[in-house]
Formats: sequence, C-alpha cells, structure tokens
Amino acid sequence: QPSFTVLGIESSCDDTAAAVVRGRNILSSIVLGQTELHAAFGGVVPEIAARAHAEKLDIAVAEALKAADTSLSEIDAIAVTSGPGLIGGVLSGVMTAKGLSAGSGKPLVGVNHLAGHALTPRLTDGLEFPYLMLLVSGGHCQFLIVKSVEEFQRLGGTIDDAPGEAFDKTARLLGLPQPGGPSVEQNARTGDEKRFRLPRPLLDQEGCDMSFSGLKTALLRQRDKLVKEQDGLYEQDRFDLCAGFQAAVRDVLAEKTRRALEVYLEMAPAKPAFAIAGGVAANGAIREKLQALCDEKGVAFIAPPLALCTDNAAMIAYAGQELFSKGVTHDMSLSARPRWPL
Ligand code: KG4
Ligand code: ZN
Repeated sequence: QPSFTVLGIESSCDDTAAAVVRGRNILSSIVLGQTELHAAFGGVVPEIAARAHAEKLDIAVAEALKAADTSLSEIDAIAVTSGPGLIGGVLSGVMTAKGLSAGSGKPLVGVNHLAGHALTPRLTDGLEFPYLMLLVSGGHCQFLIVKSVEEFQRLGGTIDDAPGEAFDKTARLLGLPQPGGPSVEQNARTGDEKRFRLPRPLLDQEGCDMSFSGLKTALLRQRDKLVKEQDGLYEQDRFDLCAGFQAAVRDVLAEKTRRALEVYLEMAPAKPAFAIAGGVAANGAIREKLQALCDEKGVAFIAPPLALCTDNAAMIAYAGQELFSKGVTHDMSLSARPRWPL
C-alpha cells in the first residue's frame, strides 16, 4: 500500500467534493451537495450543477486542507476526476486542479471516477487484487473484476436504466419523496412482495447484463390498474408495490452476482472477495441477499461505509495515490472526458 499525501477533487455529478488522504487514512473528506438546487426539477440539471461546482470547488478544497490540518505545500500530488461525468462539472474540477498544480508545482493526476469507486475497497478494507465489484448507483450498474490499479475486467452491466434510477422513478410513480431508494425501502418493509409479481428481465439470458427499465413500466401498469379498479391507491397497495419492485431488483442483482462470482472464482483468487459500492448498496434487502450468497460461496462480502459508497473525493484522492505511486502523472494537457469506460 502506498503512503503519499494526496488532495482529491471530485465534481463529476452533483456533489462538489475535496479530500486529503494519506495511505489508507482519510485525513479529511468534504462533500458539498446540491440536492436543494435540483429538487424542483426532478433530476440533476447539468448547467446548474456546473455553476454550483465552479462556485464551491475552491471552498471545498480550502475546507479539506484545513480539516486535514495541512496545506498545499505539504501535499505530494493533486488528484482530480477527469471523467466520466457531466462535462461542465468535470471541466470545473480539472481546471481547479490545474490551477492548484501550476501554482504549487505539485504533480497532477487525472482519475477515472469509476476507478475511484472500484478502488474504494482497498482504501476501506485493504482488499488484495483481484476482487469482484458491483457498482450500483443512480448512474452506474456494472460488475468489474479489479485486477490492478489500472486493469478492470467488465463482466456486464445494465443495458438501460441504473437500479437507483429505477428506485427514483418508482418513488415518483407512487408519490413518494426523492431520493426514491430510501423511501421505497421504507415502504417495502410493511409490504407483501408476492402480491404483485413484477418481471425479472434478462434473468433467462446468459451473462451478467441487466435491464431495469421494463420494471417501472410494469409497475406503472399495476398502479394504473389499481387506481382504475378501486378509484385510488391505498397505503397497503403502495407498500406491496414497493416490496414487489424491490424484490425484483434484489433477485436480478443476486442472480447476476451469482454468475459474476462463478467467472471470478475461476481465476482462483487467493483471498476471494466481493465488494459493493454506490447508493443502492445502502439497501438492506439487497445487502442481505448478496451477503448470504457470498457466505454460501465462501467469499468475503465487503460493503464500505455509505459515505464512501456514494460520490466523494476520498476515493479520488486514494485512486490518485495508487496511480501516483506507480509513476502516473499528467501535464496541463489533461482533458475532461464526458465518456470514459474503464
Ligand atoms: O451513488 P449515489 O449517491 O449517486 C450516484 O448515482 O452516483 O446513488 C444515488 C442513488 C439514488 O438513485 C438513490 O435512490 C439510490 O442511490 N439509493 C437507494 C437507497 N439509498 C440510495 N436505492 C435503494 N435503496 C436505498 N436504501
Ligand atoms: Zn459515482
């Protein structure tokens, strides 16, 4: 494990974040969210996000350095998310990092946001390569075998919506508050998951690809049918619909995880481990099922703390540190990439 002190900067979606990490120690991690700014629009508005990042990046960096009781002169490198993500935000972050690098003479390291998520289990649990990872959030859904700092084997992922997006749309359809994940999970607790049998798309298809967009259509149909039959939606209907939806997502993720584990275990890893990250990893029902599956297969189940599963800059600082220790740095030509598959 490397032990450089790295400042990390993240602004690829709707969180403006900065952090200082040394080795596996998070000296500070500041996340300035924008939820209120986008609330009225029912989703992240790229222009609003870019403006907010431009306004808040300097503040986040100053706060992160102060909270870590350090200064730029004591930092070994500056790591920044240079993609993928909303281009305005990524550009703001990259320009901020370049400015800091030029001003301080400290090396610059561009980091792939997805690599940041994928390397988080090394930061939190010191996992050894290769490990299997499920990235599951409002924007991503994919299985990765993490082989080294720069080597990721993608086993499959969603071919349409990400599960978090499906949770959010489900909440909207049922008149529940955003973000949808926590409210759907809450409502599902008192629901009967068997009352409405929702589809499990692509389950009969080989491989690890998934699809979640059909689920919300099925849910919409059930809701409209109920509204028509009984002139409205009762509380118990809402509970049961949430439970049915969550069970469908859980079952798809579990079955595809089972297959991903098979591919991964063929590599005969010395210390087999499966890690989850992303906002949806907070879901208790999904966690329990994946944990049980790992127990059955003799694979360690790793779920980093939620603050490190969702977007943050500590993961960028850490990934930057790993790259820097391998000699990776970038010059002022580092560009912001809206698309950048691992
Ligand atoms: O990783 P994240 O904070 O942001 C990105 O999408 O990058 O994930 C947010 C997503 C939202 O769609 C939210 O509804 C979902 O994660 N989420 C959950 C839960 N908590 C958050 N989904 C299911 N169950 C939860 N408990
Ligand atoms: Zn993310």
